Amino acid sequence: QKAKMIVDKDFRVSEIDERIYGSFIEHLGRAVYGGVYEPDHPEADEHGFRKDVIELVKQLNVPIVRYPGGNMVSAYNWEDGVGPKELRPRRLELAWRTIETNEIGTNEFVDWANLVNSQVMMAVNLGTRGIDEARNFIEYCNHPGGTYYSDLRRKHGYEKPHKINTWCLGNEMDGPWQIGHKTAEEYGRLALETAKAMRLVDPTIELVACGSSNTGMPTFPQYEATTLEHTYDAIDYISLHQYYGNRSNDTASYLAKSMDMEHFIKTIISTCDYVKAKKRSKKTINLSFDEWNVWYHSNGQDRQIEPWSIAPPQLEDVYNFEDALLVGSMLMTFLRNSDRVKIACMAQLVNVIAPIMTQKGGKAWKQTIFYPYAHVSAFGRGVALQPVVSSPKYDSKEFTDVPYLDSAAVYNEEKSEVTIFAVNRHLEEALPLSCDVRSFGDYEIIEHIVLEHDDLKAVNTIEAQTVQPHSNGVSSLNNGFIEANLSKASWNVIRLR
Ligand code: AHR
Repeated sequence: QKAKMIVDKDFRVSEIDERIYGSFIEHLGRAVYGGVYEPDHPEADEHGFRKDVIELVKQLNVPIVRYPGGNMVSAYNWEDGVGPKELRPRRLELAWRTIETNEIGTNEFVDWANLVNSQVMMAVNLGTRGIDEARNFIEYCNHPGGTYYSDLRRKHGYEKPHKINTWCLGNEMDGPWQIGHKTAEEYGRLALETAKAMRLVDPTIELVACGSSNTGMPTFPQYEATTLEHTYDAIDYISLHQYYGNRSNDTASYLAKSMDMEHFIKTIISTCDYVKAKKRSKKTINLSFDEWNVWYHSNGQDRQIEPWSIAPPQLEDVYNFEDALLVGSMLMTFLRNSDRVKIACMAQLVNVIAPIMTQKGGKAWKQTIFYPYAHVSAFGRGVALQPVVSSPKYDSKEFTDVPYLDSAAVYNEEKSEVTIFAVNRHLEEALPLSCDVRSFGDYEIIEHIVLEHDDLKAVNTIEAQTVQPHSNGVSSLNNGFIEANLSKASWNVIRLR
């Protein structure tokens, strides 16, 4: 059985917003303390940031990083994290039941983001706090000077405003676990009034309202509809979050979970457009998929962690090879929907459900999921094309009609490059692929990168990079047709120029 594709330069989905390659750092576990920041580490710079971690983050080319939470933001006082470090309070961090030292706060994080060439996507606390805190915080960050909070920032050593452009109006407010959890009515009203005040301080900002924490929430997708009915004119994006796992060790179903993600995206697009129609509006609300990843490996271990320690090893999933395949499929889902998904943040970036792991005082290394993320971030810039695909299919316990071939294509006109991303979901057999690229004329294959491994459960550790890509993929281009052989259970990046 063979798969067929047509990739044509005129079948355009959209210009890709590079922020779909965003990530997330929460004050949680060892993401900040012992991850990006470890002043005693031999690789620490003069501010305590680990240079080896900075180098790995730069390899991922992350344009935007969401901060400081996550669940943590819903009881966070931003004021605790600014000003002289010796005066900053230690607090009980209630979301993850740890102690927050506040050694790192807004200004330090903006400094770190500058070092990795990222913008910050800042979240305000709409759990325990509200309009007043949010308007003061944005004044502190974005107002040039001459007022109480902007002058406070200057006093803290930051003469120029941070000009933070993208702001999240709280986090997962639909979830009963959230501190200050709200019904959609309560949240919609508060988000609207907060958005109004924040925009009065800085009219140039973009705002993201919370949607559902995942598709399994009982209020999905009514939460989005109600929130949008309140906030439609005041916000720019609605947020989506989703994590997957292979708890029942059913890999055929697991690799198809990107189909559930696609369904989630389509449902939220419909919800946005339904409210648009109701409001007779000309404005379109786009999607910010600002938490996504695989998350399940560490669940058991996390239940053993004693409360009230500083930066314990929480949510430290060790990712295996099959996780990398699903992550590749999730990234391709964003590309295919890039006309509406404008921001996406892999949750998270360092140590906490992350592509990058660190050892205290020791090395930093790449998890398996690092590779598809790095590939799509590097080669997925430009215009997303809509491939026309015909693929053999399978049924699994959870899904029917799953195409063995999952794919996306990107045309980078500036560099005259085309990249085809593809996962072969078949666990036992290679998949021959024929791809019509005649519209590009005399392009040639410059590289066929493959991530494959005989053991779906193989992992990378501090000692060994067991799962690594190679560039020996089997493909040729003749008379405008690529003939490729996609190895069983593999991630492929076929680059043409
Ligand atoms: O990323 C881990 C957690 O997952 C976040 O704090 C929360 O927003 C989500 O439930």
